[in-house]
Amino acid sequence: MANIPIIALFCFTIFVSSSLKFVYGAENMTYVVVGHVYCDTCRVEFETKLSEPISGAVVKLECRNRTNEAITFQSQEIVADGFGDYHITVEGDYEESDCNVALVRSPRADCSDPTEAWRKSRVVLTTFDGLSGKLRFVNNLGFKKDIALPQCTRILQEMGYYELSQEAGDFSPSSKL
Ligand SMILES: *[C@@H]1O[C@H](CO)[C@@H](O)[C@H](O)[C@H]1NC(C)=O
Ligand SMILES: *[C@@H]1O[C@H](CO)[C@@H](O)[C@H](O)[C@H]1NC(C)=O
Repeated sequence: MANIPIIALFCFTIFVSSSLKFVYGAENMTYVVVGHVYCDTCRVEFETKLSEPISGAVVKLECRNRTNEAITFQSQEIVADGFGDYHITVEGDYEESDCNVALVRSPRADCSDPTEAWRKSRVVLTTFDGLSGKLRFVNNLGFKKDIALPQCTRILQEMGYYELSQEAGDFSPSSKL
């Protein structure tokens, strides 16, 4: 018997919180966009255990209207902390926009070339598509090191990548490209 009031309370809570959301509007939502910047020390376009956080890396969040490409939100340049982590606070709802965090620059002269794959990453800043919560996580973004670390060969072998990449001709521990 005790179950019924609990269910009723539960439904009521859901009802109240969704009405509040309706009343106050998603326009008033504050999102916290969270991400990380690393140095791809093996020049492989993905993270390995040799990847290093880039303290002081600079990123920027930009949203553009999906229809006419007009900028709907632009953050200031955001600097990653000592762990390569950053957060960006955004107010409003960007259901009709495509939002991306992009690398701007790296403070490391030896690791300042944005990776092709992870120079920018999409982030969803709306609750209309079923995502709730104010924290929004961005895929880690990476700059490529100028010369791969010598240990990369062993690490990539362990990961089972070495032969594959060599065949494709895009990995060589000593080459610059
Ligand atoms: C956002 O919230 C503030 C108060 O917190 C209110 O004054 C304002 O009208 C709200 N804006 C919208 C668009 O709902
Ligand atoms: C996006 O652009 C379209 C077409 O110009 C316009 O109708 C719409 O209001 C814009 N949306 C936002 C959120 O600016």
